[in-house]
Amino acid sequence: MIKENQDLQPFNTFGISVKADLFSSFDSVETLDRLIKNSNGLPLLILGGGSNVLFTRDYHGLVLKNEIKGFDIISENNDAVIVRAGAGEIWHEFVLKCIDKGFGGIENLSLIPGSVGASPMQNIGAYGVEIKDVFHSLSAYHLATGEIHTFDKSQCEFGYRESVFKRKLKGQYVIIDVSFDLSKNPKINSSYGAIENELKAMGISSPSIKDISNAVIAIRSSKLPDPNKVGNAGSFFKNPVVEKEVADSILKDYPNAPVYPADNGKRKLAAGWLIEQAGWKGKTLENYGVHKLQALVLVNYGGATGHEVLDLSTSIIADIKSKFGVELEREVNIL
Ligand code: FAD
Ligand code: EPU
Repeated sequence: MIKENQDLQPFNTFGISVKADLFSSFDSVETLDRLIKNSNGLPLLILGGGSNVLFTRDYHGLVLKNEIKGFDIISENNDAVIVRAGAGEIWHEFVLKCIDKGFGGIENLSLIPGSVGASPMQNIGAYGVEIKDVFHSLSAYHLATGEIHTFDKSQCEFGYRESVFKRKLKGQYVIIDVSFDLSKNPKINSSYGAIENELKAMGISSPSIKDISNAVIAIRSSKLPDPNKVGNAGSFFKNPVVEKEVADSILKDYPNAPVYPADNGKRKLAAGWLIEQAGWKGKTLENYGVHKLQALVLVNYGGATGHEVLDLSTSIIADIKSKFGVELEREVNIL
């Protein structure tokens, strides 16, 4: 059923109240196809869990919320399994289901909010793993033709918080299911420092995939705000990848600054560290601001507008540029 003038506040984790002219959910490709074919060329927005968007204005078009479910084993042998999940499955529930079945590979990505279908959009990543490490393929509905196209890993052109669906195919496809290459003899990835420390604190020396998941959940819960309590969309900015010389000049002034190796001899800086050094951490402006435990996360304490949050992000970008000569890029999709 299509609803008119729908308040989108319950459908975005920032908790921003804007109206959509038209709104509907869909739980099958057939329903999606019918909705698209009757949409008369209106602007379309596909929404999963709304955990990576900032609404700055009413949406004059049709918002379609993906609720396509499904969990299927496509193939398996003694060591490996390919699992296909409907795009409308909740990501964390999917992770837990795989862990329960002993399928490893995505346990480090526990507790990331949102849907399975959005996971390839920005190649979600956390604690040393990205979707691209376990991605097999996806099916997507081509808006222009109504055809279903399959994409393998190389066609998705994954990068750090990037995919072809954010770049040259932006707005052209609705992802309807995603398949993952998982392992029945999982290699535990506890290389991320915080996981090792958490496991030590938990007294675990040879962790299972469930232990890794629990450690990640504990770490995330200790510093990231729960969107059910405080509006946010996770990291608002990407960690900037800069030339080695830029990182070296920061290290000269701040020898303990977190700096990581990146492709082509470049360096990745921690945006949260830069924002904290610039004095923004915990800053509150009326009912919104910068989270007090994680400076990379902008928060809405209730009733903020998307424009206020966007303006705050613009001020932070300008300040980091002037203090460190580094240009931050927003990670969240601004609408
Ligand atoms: P939405 O916000 O609904 O959509 C995001 C974008 O994808 C929009 O442009 C939308 O149009 C498009 N889209 C959504 N579904 C589809 C589809 N089926 N087909 C086509 N386009 C689609 N991200 C990380 O990578 N790592 C983290 O550790 C992480 N931590 C987070 C912590 C918190 C507390 C929060 C709130 C967010 C965090 N995020 C993280 C960001 C977010 O969870 C991910 O980007 C997630 O994949 C978004 O899923 P979603 O379903 O909510 O997407
Ligand atoms: N730091 C600070 N101050 C802060 C925040 C971080 O100094 O306020 C420092 C930390 O001390 C650490 C470094 O920055 O030395 C990195 O911090 P952290 O491990 O918390 O990770 P992050 O770089 O801030 C990234 C992702 C997160 C992901 C975590 C864990 C991006 C943009 N963010 O955050 O993803 O969960 O690593 O892997 O890459 C998201 O994308 O929404 C998200 C939450």
